[in-house]
Amino acid sequence: MAPRSLSHRSLSFLFRTSKVSYREPFANLSSVFFSTHIVGDAPILVRDFVRAALYDPTHGYFSQRSRSVGVLENSIKFNQLEGRKAYMLHLDNIYKQSDISWFTPVELFKPWYAHGIAEAIMRTANLSVPLKIYEIGGGSGTCAKGIMDYIMLNAPTRVYNNMSYISVEISSSLAKKQMETVGEVRSHLSKFRVECRDATDRSGWGDAERQPCWVIMLEVLDNLPHDLVYSENQVSPWMEVWVEKQHDRSELSELYKPVQDPLITCCMEIMDLDKDHTTQGDRATSVARNIWAKVFPKPQRCWLPTGCLKLLEVLHGALPKMSLIASDFSYLPDVRIPGERAPLVSTKKDGISSDRNSYLDAKGDADIFFPTDFWLLEHIDHYCSGWLTLQKDKSSKQGKKRRTITLDTSSFMEEFGLPSKTRTKDGLRLSLM
Ligand SMILES: C[S@@+](CC[C@H](N)C(=O)[O-])C[C@H]1O[C@@H](n2cnc3c(N)ncnc32)[C@H](O)[C@@H]1O
Repeated sequence: MAPRSLSHRSLSFLFRTSKVSYREPFANLSSVFFSTHIVGDAPILVRDFVRAALYDPTHGYFSQRSRSVGVLENSIKFNQLEGRKAYMLHLDNIYKQSDISWFTPVELFKPWYAHGIAEAIMRTANLSVPLKIYEIGGGSGTCAKGIMDYIMLNAPTRVYNNMSYISVEISSSLAKKQMETVGEVRSHLSKFRVECRDATDRSGWGDAERQPCWVIMLEVLDNLPHDLVYSENQVSPWMEVWVEKQHDRSELSELYKPVQDPLITCCMEIMDLDKDHTTQGDRATSVARNIWAKVFPKPQRCWLPTGCLKLLEVLHGALPKMSLIASDFSYLPDVRIPGERAPLVSTKKDGISSDRNSYLDAKGDADIFFPTDFWLLEHIDHYCSGWLTLQKDKSSKQGKKRRTITLDTSSFMEEFGLPSKTRTKDGLRLSLM
């Protein structure tokens, strides 16, 4: 497996590229057993496998590594860098000096990225009612602190005094880190709280919040569990993929079942995934397609963002008046796992990052992250808000189109990146490629 190298990677990938952190031998030993322990005697859906590999309270990637989200000690002084080359070298140095796994855009462009979001909120929010912001998966708390700093310094005093910022974070070690980061400014603490829980669990949200509020999700969708469906050729029906232990119990393998899981079914409907696999056109065309698929069968695999669907369903139920700001990577380079929207499974050992060929190799020491399909995200969001209905009877649901800012990370920087602050000496405006 090839080590990461700056020259071959697009800039966006640098957020995930890193020097490897040293891990104790015993941690490695326990993780070796972990991947087969995720699966008990009964098979589990792929999304449950991914969830355990990332978030199992003891062995999951985000739980066992409190430093799974990197924090830059100092902000990058973009206006002191000559240009892109200097920036790349600077980043290279940062990664060399750090035992951190990777840095997110909100870290690399701090505090400007968070300030940009705060500015967008202030420009569009109704500031006559108390400002309420939820952040899902706040990582180290850099975004929360940056937003609160900006509002403290730029909004009318009453807006800052009456605001509340609630972080919903699944990892207890990151929840603790967020309190520390935000607590650097004492006055923020009375307005900030962390709820350490799974945001996709509806029971954690209590009664629906009727007031308008903002929800921020940065680089969270890519780490949400996904499902996988498989078809043995171009016309066969899709099957849902389960993971089971092989007979000797030392390895894992896939098992295919007819689609029956409600979340998978719903996601496939939103995506209209069956369209190409059902008989279409006249009888002659359909016969020809069937023959072609038998003679030249092409097995197909498609990853479904069922975790995202569940999260948006829960958010729309719990916070019906939310305005959503979500940003993530739309593309990941050099993905080795097969299938549409397949993830990168990246692990680091002895100073070298390497990608796995199979998601089944994730053992709690590997980050599993998926590219975000923004067209699909918008469809899912509209479906969950009730604006897009799958039923033939379009009048059965009365949703409305809402304020949603969902951009891939580079467009997000274009829109909110405070260009004057992220410009190098030669005038180049740094954003993500
Ligand atoms: C890749 S990190 C991004 C951190 C931060 N937003 C940033 O951009 O630096 C993903 C974050 O989402 C959290 N997370 C993932 N799934 C979650 C869930 N279901 N509920 C709450 N937090 C979650 C992780 O623990 C982590 O803090």
